[in-house]
Amino acid sequence: MERLQAAGGWVPFSTYMDWALHDPSHGAYGAGRLQVGPSGDFATSPSLGPDFAELLLPQLLQWFQQQPGNGPLALIETGPGEGQLALQLSEAIAREAPELRERLELVLVEPNPGMAERQRVLLAEAPLRCRWQSFAQLQESPLTGVMLAHEVLDALAVERVLWDGQDWRLQGVSLVGDAALELAAGPPLSADLRAELEALIPGPSRPEGWCTELHVGLAPWLAQAAASLSQGQLLVIDYAHEAWRYYAPQRSNGTLMAYRGQRASDDPLLEPGHWDLTAHLCLESLERAAAASGWSLLGQRRQGEALLALGLAQRLHALQQGSPAELADLLSRREALLRYVDPSALGDFRWIALQRSGAVAAQPLFLQDPPLA
Ligand SMILES: C[S@@+](CC[C@H](N)C(=O)[O-])C[C@H]1O[C@@H](n2cnc3c(N)ncnc32)[C@H](O)[C@@H]1O
Repeated sequence: MERLQAAGGWVPFSTYMDWALHDPSHGAYGAGRLQVGPSGDFATSPSLGPDFAELLLPQLLQWFQQQPGNGPLALIETGPGEGQLALQLSEAIAREAPELRERLELVLVEPNPGMAERQRVLLAEAPLRCRWQSFAQLQESPLTGVMLAHEVLDALAVERVLWDGQDWRLQGVSLVGDAALELAAGPPLSADLRAELEALIPGPSRPEGWCTELHVGLAPWLAQAAASLSQGQLLVIDYAHEAWRYYAPQRSNGTLMAYRGQRASDDPLLEPGHWDLTAHLCLESLERAAAASGWSLLGQRRQGEALLALGLAQRLHALQQGSPAELADLLSRREALLRYVDPSALGDFRWIALQRSGAVAAQPLFLQDPPLA
């Protein structure tokens, strides 16, 4: 509240979202308040068990094998949350591809000190070498390998924009009295943001009060990621829509959601600094921003189809051969596998693969046909 007052009583939504998520003392991630997992604030695919990492592994190995020479390789995870995916992948690599152990290091990019602290505890005994680096540090000596961004880009601050019946305006957050917040229209959009929006929503303007998001944080993030990886692939896994779905006239309030304690709300102003705030990605915005910083698109697919291509059906079938003594574990793994492919749950996530430089070799496994039964 004091900060908002000091800023003149109104800030653009992106500033509010940045404070609410990433402020080191008060932000939901910055202060390490949010807990990822089925008994925390919200579940993500890796937090449901190790099957997700084990299914992803062949894709990572395909990309590692494509790197020329025998030099050092890195698996860079950005936004590792609790560190579960990093731990599960390092265990799977040590087990399934022990020949990589000497060449491969795990590099974690986590700007929020509260989250990094928890990752260090979880990964203390990980079977691969681990280090935490900022993008700024990586840019000094960029790495070769694979970079992952699993449910990270949806946590980048977005700008909210509003059609007031006559013009496009920024939507921001303002102070009401001493202690309440409200969403409030601000100045007209800058020429740059207006051009970006108009490229995404051709056709007639929207009904008065129609509101959406623009992903202003994507281009700088992708440029930093590109400068951190001299050669290799970036796999983005996140909620995403095509522009026609994202900016459809009937989607009148964007995609912004808040999560806490397994509850979801469309009110981003609830208890700032205690709720996760997320917005879907727009595929075209991501692809344009990626191309502008030198990434080439290898392809994209829904998570359900990507995991089927990587052998999810065979894994589900194999669970039926488990012993009755492991029944509880088998049932929870079965439930997780079904959630990964369920189109109304995690199956609708997108996997978007980008390549940094070097020749594009074989088609990524996750874009191929599923293996024969
Ligand atoms: C929703 S959690 C995802 C956790 C984990 N990847 C998972 O799927 O379980 C978002 C993570 O991204 C981190 N994060 C937020 N902004 C980031 C940025 N600009 N770069 C890298 N990580 C970021 C957060 O601190 C948090 O660790």
